[in-house]
Amino acid sequence: MSLKRVGILTGGGDCSGLNAVIRAVTRSAIINYEAEVIGIEQGFEGLIFNRNRKLTVAGTKDILALGGTILGTTNKGDPFEYRQFDQDGHVTTQDYSQQTIENFKRLDLDCLFVVGGDGTLQIGYRLFQKGLPVIGIPKTIDNDLVGTDYTFGYQTAVQVACDALDRLQTTGESHHRVMILEVMGRSAGWIALEAGISGGAHVILIPEIPYDLEKVLEKINLRAEGGSPFSVMVVAEGAKEIGKEAITSEAASTRLQGVAQLGGVGNYIAKQLSDRIDLEVRCTVLGHTQRGGTPLAFDRILGTRLGTQAVQAAAEGKFGTMVALKSQEIVLVPLESLAGIVRNIPNDSQLIRTAEAIGVSLGR
Ligand code: F6P
Repeated sequence: MSLKRVGILTGGGDCSGLNAVIRAVTRSAIINYEAEVIGIEQGFEGLIFNRNRKLTVAGTKDILALGGTILGTTNKGDPFEYRQFDQDGHVTTQDYSQQTIENFKRLDLDCLFVVGGDGTLQIGYRLFQKGLPVIGIPKTIDNDLVGTDYTFGYQTAVQVACDALDRLQTTGESHHRVMILEVMGRSAGWIALEAGISGGAHVILIPEIPYDLEKVLEKINLRAEGGSPFSVMVVAEGAKEIGKEAITSEAASTRLQGVAQLGGVGNYIAKQLSDRIDLEVRCTVLGHTQRGGTPLAFDRILGTRLGTQAVQAAAEGKFGTMVALKSQEIVLVPLESLAGIVRNIPNDSQLIRTAEAIGVSLGR
């Protein structure tokens, strides 16, 4: 099949490597198929409200190392359930899916590349079911998507957290403090676990293993008694105490996005520990630093591979699929198979065993 005109949008939270994908799709569609490439702005909002621009090889030449997304993104632009605050501050929702489809048709595109995490890809799948030729490209710092071994953006986020842990180690040791680093990841502990192992954390708390504060205290005290009166902990934002729920914020953005915003567990644990030990406890919340900035080479390569393979899949008419990394190869998986499933760290994960084998406490 020849490709005449293709569109690309980035949806959901941004991450490092999005621009590598945009560049790869643009270059490979133009170089191999002489196609026109339309960049849809601000995720699905650009389709709902008709905001887009032409992408060119020259126009994407300097973006490989750039963080964020030149197209913009949003995690509140679901065309099937578009949320807005009304005059009274209440959230109202509206179905713009028909308008989205009509705008897509007006653009006369052979394919829509939807770059996003599970929420964005599910919207992509619903649009595919309504007849749009969609191909998904998986991204998220959380690495929690089924169907792919890694998502781009994840390695960069882990590196940012690892760098932060390196810094917390030296200041924590100098001051004899317990240093807590709260990292992102939603309900998956991938960032916390891999950053913790690579940054030499003494305690790693992940959502997959509800923690027992007594076990955490045990580890900190044991270290202090053994001549190391300081500890470094990494805590996933979705970590929860045994028998309790994860801590969420009541921010207005939560209502607008329709999903609970996680955060606060680091300070919560700091308070709990401070009441029980003599060492000073400090918490650093890494937040969006994990999402911004220059992508690592790994994420640039993965983004470029996914982008070029997505264009090839479009030329072959393989719509309703997502390009994915499986055992070193880029393969196609049906978008249907994602089905809103979160890829958590399995209980029998070798990564978990690795951490515990070197004496890291997982709070159990
Ligand atoms: O899914 C990516 C992510 O960064 C999560 O790790 C985090 O919980 C969430 O997005 C934060 O979203 P927002 O940018 O809306 O605060």
